[in-house]
Order: sequence, then structure tokens, then C-alpha cells
Amino acid sequence: MRRPHVRALALTAVAAVMPLASPAPAAADRVVIGGYPVEISQSPWTVALASRDRFGGTRAGQFCAGAVIGRSTVLTAAHCLGEEALGAPLGQIRDLKVIAGRGDLLGDEGKEIPVRAVRVNPAYDSHTNAGDAAVLTLTEPLPASSVIRTAGSGDAAYRPGTDAVVYGWGDTTGRGDFAHALRAARVRVLSDSVCAEAYPDSAEGKYLADSMLCAGELDGGRDACQGDSGGPLVAQGRLIGLVSWGNGCGRAEGPGVYTRVSGAITELGAGR
Ligand code: ARG
Repeated sequence: MRRPHVRALALTAVAAVMPLASPAPAAADRVVIGGYPVEISQSPWTVALASRDRFGGTRAGQFCAGAVIGRSTVLTAAHCLGEEALGAPLGQIRDLKVIAGRGDLLGDEGKEIPVRAVRVNPAYDSHTNAGDAAVLTLTEPLPASSVIRTAGSGDAAYRPGTDAVVYGWGDTTGRGDFAHALRAARVRVLSDSVCAEAYPDSAEGKYLADSMLCAGELDGGRDACQGDSGGPLVAQGRLIGLVSWGNGCGRAEGPGVYTRVSGAITELGAGR
């Protein structure tokens, strides 16, 4: 395993604003925030990143998510592999796995596949969160039907106003209520200016349109949250983003920031 030199993301700052401040949307139907349950067969490219050693066995050790972009290649967030997220240096995690084909983390559907190699984007900057991407190589290939196409730069799916869906097993309320079954939330690609205004150089990060993508709802309500990191944002059948960061979850003034997949692919030299 190539040892990445990453400084960890300032998760503390994100966590600190999360519990009290978020005006959570009305109770019934939230997820990821404001989402709905989804079968894994509808998004077979969504995988869980897991380590039972680090995160315990209750939810199969899930701590982040990823997207299958090649039969043995998973794209995820760089910050998921940082010491701050893992609670230990990556090199010490002996049981890092990708769980594919399992929607319910309490079940035993699908497969747990050990990670053979990790490549963290050398351009990842934990202060701004720029270039928040990493590639995992699996010890065993997944079926070709699990692979999602990535959207290259200039793809129409990046246009503001585009409908997109984010998938994950993360916090459904912003108060630490982690889902055990996969959920999805409908969001919209927002213009770079929305996130640039929300996130000048802030404690959470700095919005940089080159390597980031802004998505959510102008009024808030639907969003990714803690635990969804690294997971896919999909539009027009193509992967456009990875859950990266935000200020709280589902807040109108804190849209979701995603790693821009076209940039990540270039920086990591990951094939389509
Ligand atoms: N950093 C978080 C994680 O590690 C993801 C936060 C996404 N936040 C948001 N409001 N979209 O899981």
C-alpha cells in the first residue's frame, strides 16, 4: 500500500457546528438529509467503506462511501483516509474493506472486498478541501454492471440546475442518527457563485470551482451529511461528484460541496 501523506480534514470544525445549529427539516422523510430509501440494485456503484477494527461491527464498520468507476476501482474522498477520520494512520488499518451489493448494513447481502492499494490525490489540500479524492484498488473485480461512467469536464451534467441524486448511509438528521440502509436524496447542481458566497475562506473550507462542485437546494432541506463522505452524486446517469464537505447539513446557508469528478480523474490519472 502506497503510504499517502495527507493532513486530515478539519472535521472538528464541521462537527462543531452540526448538532445544535441545523434547523432540521420536518421529521418524517429525511436521510442522507431529506431523502428516501433506495435499493442497492438501483445504484450498484454505491459502496460502503468499512473497518470493523476502527468503527465497530454494528453497522459493518461503515464510515464513508465510494463510487465504483472501474471493475476493481473505487473513487472516494481523500479526507476519509486521513488520520482525523480514521482515528489512526491509514497504514495501521489492517481491515479496510469495500462493501458492494449490500444496501442494508445489518444484512449480509453482497460482498466485502479487501482494499489492495490506496492512492490519495497528491493535490489534496486539507485546509481548503481542494482535490478531495482517492482511488482504491480492490483485490477482486466487481461485475461490469456495477460500474458507473464518470462525467468528463464540459459534460452537460455539471450545468447548474441539473437534477442530481446523492447516495449514502450517513446521518439522517444532522444529530448523529446514522442510517443502516442506503438512502438517496434529490438535489440540484447549484452555480459556483452560491458556494463561493457561502464559503469564502471559512473554517470548514474554501470553495474552489476548479476542483469542487456545489449542490443542494437553495432553501436547504435536502443534502448529504456526516458519514456520506466519498459517496456518489449522480446526474444524467454519470458520476459528477463525491460527497466532500459543508456547513451543517441541509441548511439553506450551507450548501453541499462535492469533489468535482472530472478534476479528480485528471489529478489521480484514474481511467474511465
Ligand atoms: N465531511 C462529511 C463526511 O465526512 C460530509 C459532509 C457533507 N456535508 C454536507 N452538508 N453535504 O461524511
